[in-house]
Amino acid sequence: MDVERWAFDVFQLDTLLVEFIRETIRAQGPQSFAWFMQQALYHSEHGYYSSGRCVIGRKGDYFTNVSVGPLFGQLLVAQFTEIWERLGKTDDFVIVEQGAHDGQFALDVLELAQKRLPEFFDALRYRILEPFPILEQQQRRKLQAFGDKVNWADSLEPFTGVHFSNELLDAMPVRLITNGVEKLVGLDGDQLVFVERPVDETIFNKASLEAIDQIAANLRRGYLIAIDYGVLDEEFERNVQVRAKHRNLNSPFEQIGDADITMSVDWQSIIERAQANGLRVAGFTDQHHFLTGILSRFESWDRGQSLLGDSRKAKRELQTLLHPEMLGRAFQVLGLARNVDAKTNPLAGFKFARRLDQSG
Ligand SMILES: C[S@@+](CC[C@H](N)C(=O)[O-])C[C@H]1O[C@@H](n2cnc3c(N)ncnc32)[C@H](O)[C@@H]1O
Repeated sequence: MDVERWAFDVFQLDTLLVEFIRETIRAQGPQSFAWFMQQALYHSEHGYYSSGRCVIGRKGDYFTNVSVGPLFGQLLVAQFTEIWERLGKTDDFVIVEQGAHDGQFALDVLELAQKRLPEFFDALRYRILEPFPILEQQQRRKLQAFGDKVNWADSLEPFTGVHFSNELLDAMPVRLITNGVEKLVGLDGDQLVFVERPVDETIFNKASLEAIDQIAANLRRGYLIAIDYGVLDEEFERNVQVRAKHRNLNSPFEQIGDADITMSVDWQSIIERAQANGLRVAGFTDQHHFLTGILSRFESWDRGQSLLGDSRKAKRELQTLLHPEMLGRAFQVLGLARNVDAKTNPLAGFKFARRLDQSG
């Protein structure tokens, strides 16, 4: 009985979302892919993320670094404490997380800090930038033990500390523009189809560039660390991925509202926008080198009580995060900085980076 009702609800939601998309195209003509992506992922009631339908991890649609296990957040704590030290151990240190999903990364960070690093934990405030009420509810439930150590905001306020995101930028809506031609989403009967139009505009990732503007406008002192999959200097290909239940789907028009849609990040345009906003590049490297650099700090910081210990589970997590054929090469890490000496003294995560020539 329950199963039937669940299936019926999902069917209803899908139908309503797809019908809304069709109605808009019928009334207003073909729409940009960015508009389509916004509806499929973030429509206020029926979007894949905004409805709370997205599940990440083994039982969900796809894995992320966070869903591999707590080790990822724990390793990042070592990087955050180094940043805090660089900022003179300020007692007003804020970690702003954007794209926090169900709050798991925040939980992994806060639990370790509370258990092992009381001085850092006292100085720390954790702020989640969350536009979707249903995700905020999930995060509040998961993090309730931390009381007012965590707060929520729907827009950025000035802060000192670090802005962190894992797979946020790839989830931001993009237009599909290549060589003066834009692919729009149109209709052939009831079928959603791509239609091509000439276009003068070249900027395709406006939402991520505006997110960088917002962060730059509010970061008083400290760093941005963004982890994502993308391309820096090779020929940038518009690479849309659609995933559901650990399968890549052939088209973004399959399972609308029940599938994730992402686009690989064009790091070069993100870096240029950040520099235009007065941020400096603190490093760029792949996840393998980033985490290896952090591990070397982690081992000394952890004074022999290594978190890895003999735990086979933690070792497996580490291998998944580091291995070049697993997540180690798939993801890159960009560090940006304001009002800190980012060039002569790289953060632990960028110690083995081969791309510091980007520093501006
Ligand atoms: C691919 S998921 C990654 C979730 C999590 N960081 C992880 O690694 O498991 C992308 C997340 O970004 C969120 N998101 C997208 N646009 C956002 C925005 N403008 N502000 C905050 N979160 C956003 C989505 O709701 C979703 O939870």
